[in-house]
Amino acid sequence: MTKVLTAHVDHPDSHRLAHYRSVGGYEAARKAWTSMAPAEIIGEVRASGLRGRGGAGFPTGMKWGFIPVSSPKPKYLVINADESEPGTFKDRLLIERNPHAVLEGVVIGARAIGAKRAYIYIRGEFATQVKVLEQALVEAEEAGFVGPDLFGTGEGVEIVIHRGAGAYICGEETALLNSLEGRRGYPRLKPPFPATNGAWDCPTCVNNVETIAAIPWIITHGGAAYSQIGVFEPGEEGKPPKVDSRGTRLMCLSGHVARPGVYEVPLGISFRELIEDYGGGVWKGRKLKAIIPGGSSTPVITADEAMDAVLTYEDCARLKTMFGSGGLMVIDDETCMVSLLTVLLRFYAHESCGQCSPCREGTDWLYQVLVRIRDGKGRPDDLQTIRDLCVNMEGRTVCPLAAAATMPTISYLTKFLPEFEAKVSAAQPVGVH
Ligand SMILES: Cc1cc2nc3c(=O)[nH]c(=O)nc-3n(C[C@H](O)[C@H](O)[C@H](O)COP(=O)(O)O)c2cc1C
Repeated sequence: MTKVLTAHVDHPDSHRLAHYRSVGGYEAARKAWTSMAPAEIIGEVRASGLRGRGGAGFPTGMKWGFIPVSSPKPKYLVINADESEPGTFKDRLLIERNPHAVLEGVVIGARAIGAKRAYIYIRGEFATQVKVLEQALVEAEEAGFVGPDLFGTGEGVEIVIHRGAGAYICGEETALLNSLEGRRGYPRLKPPFPATNGAWDCPTCVNNVETIAAIPWIITHGGAAYSQIGVFEPGEEGKPPKVDSRGTRLMCLSGHVARPGVYEVPLGISFRELIEDYGGGVWKGRKLKAIIPGGSSTPVITADEAMDAVLTYEDCARLKTMFGSGGLMVIDDETCMVSLLTVLLRFYAHESCGQCSPCREGTDWLYQVLVRIRDGKGRPDDLQTIRDLCVNMEGRTVCPLAAAATMPTISYLTKFLPEFEAKVSAAQPVGVH
């Protein structure tokens, strides 16, 4: 199996420049800077079919193409290393074990979009990863792979590592940009989009760590080679492809699984294969009850649904869920779904930035109603209250954090309704106990 991102991560020096150079490191950057025009680089990335690995799955080449070449303003490339979605722990692995692939991806991406400065916005708590990344950056600068004059071209890129302060919302790209500028991490209204009005109101491209780390491989081997990995089915004449899930993905397996961890897999393998063959199956010999496929904000799917599905954006959409950030959580048959949802809602209520009332108030109300149900004090109309709250939150806020709370909530209620009903109907009337 081709490994694009993790082929060398088990080597003890995988984070050092000497090792990275020994496996061909920075030759893709040299190629991009000395023999490829920016449009050609973007063309290769488009041909690869790479889609953003931060959550939304937007085509990376197309995103790079949105940066207005003729704008007289400075352009910025910003790498989102906030990795805030619960269940996701792949970006920190890449930074820790393959930091030069991230930096090389940045050097190539900067050339493609015409950025002279790039930022890596990294979660504040990632103290170890910050250290590794800073060391890698110093090594790359000293060797002339990052800096003002790359490969004798007289042009280059400066990379700045910026530590966040650990807020979920600062993973949302416009909140991230506000935070980067030194403002409060509130998401911005869109449009305008970062491509034209991003950091300091200048054209900006925000890419996830895993996305950018795939770029050196794509430039070395060509977009066509990358697009051979995974699944692609063209659409009818003039229509979008039926299936467009190409390349590999880092899947973060956690929860009730025998061998949790980060696995690089080609898109298109089955959930069954991932959980059983890679993850060793459900732990303690228990049965699978459900999975959260792409981080805690993605709707839950039942074991039956999961066992028939494959890891593609399209199959996730068919099941009315999302591939998200690749954080797959395995849920065994001894799990109480009411308790699980309550824990998730505690997170979203805590992490709502408070800018929009429906999210600030709604996430907390959802949490409070769920606590009451979980604790055996649910009221007969509580489930309807939850549904009403969700309707009044979704689509009424600046950013999708509200939806990140309501989408899973509705999915738990729909797919595991009897568990919620049983809790409510077993509840003692208020004041009796
Ligand atoms: C509430 C929220 C949190 C997010 N957190 C992250 C994150 O931690 N890391 C990330 O790369 N993208 C995150 N995103 C998605 C980013 O807004 C953005 O789409 C992504 O960084 C773009 O990179 P990509 O195109 O390479 O995926 C988040 C989005 C939302 C709405």
